[in-house]
Amino acid sequence: MELKLLMGSTNSRFLLLVSSITTLLLFTSLPSVTCSVSYDKKAIIVNGQRRILISGSIHYPRSVPEMWPDLIQKAKDGGLDVIQTYVFWNGHEPSPGKYYFEGRYDLVRFIKLIKQAGLYVHLRIGPYACAEWNFGGFPVWLKYVPGISFRTDNEPFKAAMAGFTKKIVEMMKAEELFETQGGPIILSQIENEYGPVEWEIGAPGRAYTEWAAKMAVDLGTGVPWIMCKQDDAPDPIINTCNGFYCDYFSPNKDYKPKMWTEAWTGWFTGFGGPVPHRPVEDMAFSVAKFIQKGGSFINYYMYHGGTNFGRTAGGPFIATSYDYDAPIDEYGLVRQPKWGHLKDLHRAIKMCESALVSADPTVTSLGNYQESHVFESKSGACAAFLANYDSKYFVKVAFRGMHYNLPPWSISILPDCKNTVFNTARVAVQTSQMIMTPVNSDGFSWVTYNEETASYNDDSMTVDGLLEQINVTRDVTDYLWYTTDVTIDPDEGFLKKGEYPVLSVLSAGHALHVFINGELSGTVYGSLDNPKLTFTGNVNLRAGNNKISVLSIAVGLPNVGTHFETWNAGVLGPVMLNGLNEGRRDLSWQKWSYKVGLKGEALQLHSLSGSSSVEWASLIAQKQPLTWYKTIFSAPAGNEPLALDMGSMGKGQIWINGQSIGRYWPAYKAYGTCDECSYSGTYTEKKCQTNCGEASQRWYHVPRSWLYPTGNLLVLFEEWGGDPTGISLVKRTVGSVCADVSEWQPTLKKWHIKAYGKPEMPQRPKAHLWCANGQKISSIKFASFGTPEGVCGSFQEGSCHAHKSYDAFEKNCIGQQWCSVTISPEVFGGDPCPNVMKKLAVEAICQ
Ligand code: GAL
Repeated sequence: MELKLLMGSTNSRFLLLVSSITTLLLFTSLPSVTCSVSYDKKAIIVNGQRRILISGSIHYPRSVPEMWPDLIQKAKDGGLDVIQTYVFWNGHEPSPGKYYFEGRYDLVRFIKLIKQAGLYVHLRIGPYACAEWNFGGFPVWLKYVPGISFRTDNEPFKAAMAGFTKKIVEMMKAEELFETQGGPIILSQIENEYGPVEWEIGAPGRAYTEWAAKMAVDLGTGVPWIMCKQDDAPDPIINTCNGFYCDYFSPNKDYKPKMWTEAWTGWFTGFGGPVPHRPVEDMAFSVAKFIQKGGSFINYYMYHGGTNFGRTAGGPFIATSYDYDAPIDEYGLVRQPKWGHLKDLHRAIKMCESALVSADPTVTSLGNYQESHVFESKSGACAAFLANYDSKYFVKVAFRGMHYNLPPWSISILPDCKNTVFNTARVAVQTSQMIMTPVNSDGFSWVTYNEETASYNDDSMTVDGLLEQINVTRDVTDYLWYTTDVTIDPDEGFLKKGEYPVLSVLSAGHALHVFINGELSGTVYGSLDNPKLTFTGNVNLRAGNNKISVLSIAVGLPNVGTHFETWNAGVLGPVMLNGLNEGRRDLSWQKWSYKVGLKGEALQLHSLSGSSSVEWASLIAQKQPLTWYKTIFSAPAGNEPLALDMGSMGKGQIWINGQSIGRYWPAYKAYGTCDECSYSGTYTEKKCQTNCGEASQRWYHVPRSWLYPTGNLLVLFEEWGGDPTGISLVKRTVGSVCADVSEWQPTLKKWHIKAYGKPEMPQRPKAHLWCANGQKISSIKFASFGTPEGVCGSFQEGSCHAHKSYDAFEKNCIGQQWCSVTISPEVFGGDPCPNVMKKLAVEAICQ
């Protein structure tokens, strides 16, 4: 025993010596300055060390500052080294030269918190962001700078872009936030996915790229710049990859590292669309595949998606939730198993770091769809990745004299080229099912205020013909009224026949309500795929004068597409009246009055002072269009995240204590396919979706920090008509936790054993169950050792089931916050079906 110990320590001393010699050898050729960031073909080099960096996107205005420390800590606990964020120009410069860096836009505070946590920052200055953010991050006033054309070789645009970029860089320098100054920023980004635009517009695009690169580099940040999705990024800028998979990607020069700046963890939700999910097994597979092919930087987009508060959602039709199926959910809670499985992946990758940064992989075929990638450094470090690309079959491969079982579509990581510490498809962490529970059992008591359905007051403007909406509103509001008069002759045939003429209104988007003499006549809206729309309907016109009022509504400005700044919104016509004696009358060129915004917006009904400036009526009629609702409520005890369940409402906006929660639109039901989905096989954003036929978004995040203990003002504006008595305040908690673990033993079918040999030695995995802090396991909803089916929340017994499956869990888990049970037949009263591959599925209720 003593000898063994001695040998062990000699060995490790020897290893230490070898590794420090190699470190010396390795790094004498690299810059040895402290506080430096550079790169070579293998990796980003921070303070002289090549690093495998794991990064995650958290956009600061998509949460509240009170959430930031916890989000950053959870990112760190999840194994991240870097936080990546865009800088949101329109949030910081709402009008030219007037800057805002407070509250959710306190960029410096956000970066300093990341530094405090000991993480790095990748700052995507852009200033074009895309990001499903209103107007892609550009301020709307920018569109009205004379002679401007966005994202091309255009002087006014370049001047504005250079101005803002410089402003941000100087701000970061003044606060000493670049790594070379001792700060956390190790990377910056200029532009965003400009490659496809450049390809489309040609020469001016290329000139703009050259200009943008030089402008950025000349700012002398001391840290590298990257351009994502830009194959021709000029030196020294690193071109990087964005996508669901990036293993195929190579940078444009062999002295640049292989970087993946957006590894999409899910996808965004649009109003009218289903909610996308990306299985974590595939996410982990794509990351392992990237690393095994020599990648050294990976950023999860998003690691925490958050919320599009206010009118920050891009679009049109981007939902208020920007959850993104990210490892940390919209509410700031870890999403399991995504967060935990990726944490395990990061730990495995980090165990391989020294081999990964010092060697190129040797690739060997292990079968038709199987490969090994081995990184072997001169110092003796060895890391191997064993991949099975087959999307259907488990495969047993031989590697360096040992056998390894590889589930379909998976990669095993062997940090010592021997022992598997992680397989991308074997999820060892639990699944948590979140629930939304009402916390105000008495409901809210509402009062109402009717919005005017047409306005003829002094601030309306009258012109001949139809105007583009954003040119008129400058996007200070979603709403623009278009109103016109129509005179109907008493001799009109339709009046005599008791019929109605047909009105048709063509709009460039995004939604509209038609009112005839103050009565709602119909509603139409576009979709994520096509924002344009046409209203066609019978309208109740009477003899004499009639008012046609169209409330046109923008639902977020476009954030992507060549020259999206030129895309129109609003009623551009034609507007036609059919079925008159004269045939049809074109109303497009007659006099139209325009009113920007709602009366309630002008009165600031969402604010405390504004809401007390008018008389509110008690709630009698429901389902009234264009109605304001108000209530006062107390904050529920506890610190669980809160949301409003808006399921009974149509479309509108919500404010709490004067702060905008965002647009709500539960009446827009999700259209799409929500089939069962397997993790294996190539993922696309439409592969795994939920909510088909239901509201695209039912719950709306209410940040706790926006609430006082009592007297909170909640105001809604409802466009369509909804039932506010159905609204409730809910808290988000862990409802139950599940483990779904395979018993790994030689029980495969005979043909399989014949084809691939006997599987690995049996392992004895454990099922771990954890409720959240403050919770306990109150019951075991399901437990089956055998061949259970289904997923967490809807497990079912299969044909094989150990009848003592529940016992160990009931004994060890009830009343505990957490517990673990070894998965082996004896624990469940013996093997219920010998020679069958079994697993354990368990669901425990947390309370
Ligand atoms: C990328 C873009 C991101 C985001 C993403 C989709 O192409 O760079 O900003 O829009 O698509 O969520």
